[in-house]
Amino acid sequence: MDTNSFISVRDVTKKYRSRIALDRVSIEVRRGEVFGLIGPNGAGKSTFISMLATINKPDSGDILVDGESIVKTPGRIRERIGYVPQEIALYPMLSAYDNLDLWAGVYGLKGQQKKQRIRAVLDYLRLGDRSRDRVATFSGGMKRRLNIAASLLHKPEILIMDEPTAGVDILSRTTISEMIRSLKNRGCTIIIASHYIDELESLCDRVAILNKGVLLHTGTLKGILSKTGTESLEALMLNLEEM
Ligand SMILES: Nc1ncnc2c1ncn2[C@@H]1O[C@H](COP(=O)(O)OP(=O)(O)O)[C@@H](O)[C@H]1O
Ligand SMILES: [Mg+2]
Repeated sequence: MDTNSFISVRDVTKKYRSRIALDRVSIEVRRGEVFGLIGPNGAGKSTFISMLATINKPDSGDILVDGESIVKTPGRIRERIGYVPQEIALYPMLSAYDNLDLWAGVYGLKGQQKKQRIRAVLDYLRLGDRSRDRVATFSGGMKRRLNIAASLLHKPEILIMDEPTAGVDILSRTTISEMIRSLKNRGCTIIIASHYIDELESLCDRVAILNKGVLLHTGTLKGILSKTGTESLEALMLNLEEM
């Protein structure tokens, strides 16, 4: 048991009919760290992330956030979490600002405070100058940044991102990396799922490696590479895909 644990994933199992998506997974995430969840397609990353985001429930086991159960008190935990899903969830015919306005309403923001928060998150993700443009005119990377902006409106203590840099341009990647660094400096706890963690790799304090629903390794990337005798994350991932 890790006494520094902030998010404690305990023996979580999830099945879709007879298919096991997660098999008794236990992970401890510390307050203020950037934690990477890495694994090939089908590893169970999105299943894990959606449970943490209180969208999905485990079949058995539990996740405690600051001592509170996501099974028993999902509403209280939801207020503390920002969730960026793998699929983009935006209205293409509305402007960036109006998309955020809808989300801000869901979070209960109103009036001047709401306007300020929308402006702040747009600037934070470098979308301030495109706020009145329709999302349909945005590149994939801009849509991804807008999705991230939406997840930050209520100033969450925990940010969970599912494949945030998959298929995005280099400018967006850099912006996302800078944002992660800046949020970490403010004490935010960040969990990133990725099938290949590329440049975000250097941002992660610790990582967990999942394959076919099974947790293979947890620790610093350096520690895992030295324990497994692999040169790089890429080589480690290639071995998994061959299994
Ligand atoms: N809604 C669902 N219904 C049935 N099977 C699912 C569903 N979601 C995921 N799965 C299966 O669960 C496993 C893990 O999927 P997922 O969590 O999406 O993995 P990852 O995000 O790592 O690619 C896969 O075998 C996938 O096909
Ligand atoms: Mg996924």
